Amino acid sequence: MAYSKHILITGGAGFIGSHVVRHFVQKYPEYLIVNLDKLTYAGNLENLKDIESAPNYVFIKGDIVDREMLQQLFARYGFDGVIHLAAESHVDRSILNPLAFIETNIIGTVNLLDAARHSWGDHTAGKLFYHVSTDEVYGSLGETGLFTEETPYDPRSPYSASKASSDHMVRAWHHTYGLPIIISNCSNNYGPYQFPEKLIPLVIHNIKHHKPLPIYGDGQYTRDWLWVKDHAAAIDLIFHEGRNGETYNIGGNNEWKNIDLVEKLCDIMDELLGRAQGSSRQLITFVKDRPGHDRRYAIDASKIKRELGWQPTVSAEEGLRLTAQWYLDNEEWLAHVTSGAYQQYYEKQYRERVQSQ
Ligand code: NAD
Ligand code: TYD
Repeated sequence: MAYSKHILITGGAGFIGSHVVRHFVQKYPEYLIVNLDKLTYAGNLENLKDIESAPNYVFIKGDIVDREMLQQLFARYGFDGVIHLAAESHVDRSILNPLAFIETNIIGTVNLLDAARHSWGDHTAGKLFYHVSTDEVYGSLGETGLFTEETPYDPRSPYSASKASSDHMVRAWHHTYGLPIIISNCSNNYGPYQFPEKLIPLVIHNIKHHKPLPIYGDGQYTRDWLWVKDHAAAIDLIFHEGRNGETYNIGGNNEWKNIDLVEKLCDIMDELLGRAQGSSRQLITFVKDRPGHDRRYAIDASKIKRELGWQPTVSAEEGLRLTAQWYLDNEEWLAHVTSGAYQQYYEKQYRERVQSQ
C-alpha cells in the first residue's frame, strides 16, 4: 500500500511513546508508523501488543546513538516526519548515572537531527522534526507563577539539563540549517503502562503489596499531572497544525502536592481493593529527600488552547481511578516489569534513602 506519510516515532515502546504510537496507528491507517526503540529497561513491547500486527506499523529495535543505523533507516523509509520521544526519563536514575542521559538525550537527539537534515536536504516542504520535551527544563517555581513558553531555561538535574540541551540543539538545527521543527514541553504524565519507578505507579504497586510508600522530604513538592492520552492527543494536534519553529507548553492544569496525591491514591486503592478506608495511608513513610529536588512545576497551557484548541479532557478524579484500576487489571504486565532488574534498582534506591534518613 502507498502511504500518504512515513512517520518515525522514537521511544515508542516506552510509556508516553506507546500511547502516541497506538494513537497514530489507529487513527491514521493511511500513515506508515515506524517505531524505533532500543528497548532499555523502560521499553516494553507488551505495551503495544494490541497493535503489533497492524499493517501500517513497523517496529525496529535500535539505538539513536547509532548514527549509521539512523542514516540507513532514513534512506530506507524516506520519513516525512519524526516524533522524537526516546530518552532516559527518570530524574532519580539521572542522579545515579548521568552519562546515559548525556548519550541518549543529547547525542542521540543530535544524531536524529543530522539524519533528518541529510535526508531532507533543501526539500523540507511537508517535513517536520517534532521534539517531545519536558517542563523540567524551566527549573523550579516558588509558591506562585506558571511556566510559559518564554520562561528562561534553568534546568537543575542531570535529566532536565540533558533535555534542555536537546531542546537547544533542536532550535540550533532550525536556525542554522533551516530544519522544520516544533518542540513541546509537557508536565508530568500519568496513566496505563507507566514504569513503576515513577511516583504514581510505584505507589499503586506498593499499596497493593502492603509495602511502605516512600515520600521524599516533606512531601510538599508540587507537580502538574496530565492524563497521558491527553498528551498523545496534543502531540497529534501539534504535529498536524503546529507552526514551524514554535514551542508549545502542555499541562494538566492539575497541581497536586505529593503528599496529597499519595493520600488520594491510598483512598482510591482502599476502595478498589475493599480495604478499610485509611488503612493504606498507614504505609506512608517519609524518606530522605532527592538531591536538588525541584519544588514546584506548573504549566501555563494557554498558547496551545488559544492557537490549537487543545485542553485536558480527563479530570484528576477520573484519571487516578482509571490508572489504579488499570494496574489492578494488568497484574501480569506489572509482574513482568517488576521482576529482575527492577528489584535491584528498588533495593538500591530506597534502602539507602531509608537508612540515611
Ligand atoms: P520512558 O522512559 O517510559 O520511555 C523511553 C523510551 O525510550 C523507552 O521505550 C526506551 O527503551 C527508549 N529509549 C531510551 N534510550 C533509547 C535510545 N538510546 N535509543 C532508542 N530508544 C531509546 O519515557 P516516557 O515517560 O514515556 O517519556 C517519553 C518522552 O517524553 C521523553 O523524551 C521524556 O523526556 C518526555 N516527557 C516525559 C514526561 C513524563 O511525565 N513521563 C513528561 C514530559 C515529557
Ligand atoms: P517522579 O514521578 O519521579 O517525576 P519527576 O521527578 O520527573 O517530577 O516524581 C514525582 C514527584 O514525586 C517528585 O516530586 C518526586 C516525588 N517522589 C517521591 O516523593 N517518592 C518517590 O518514590 C518517587 C519516585 C517520587
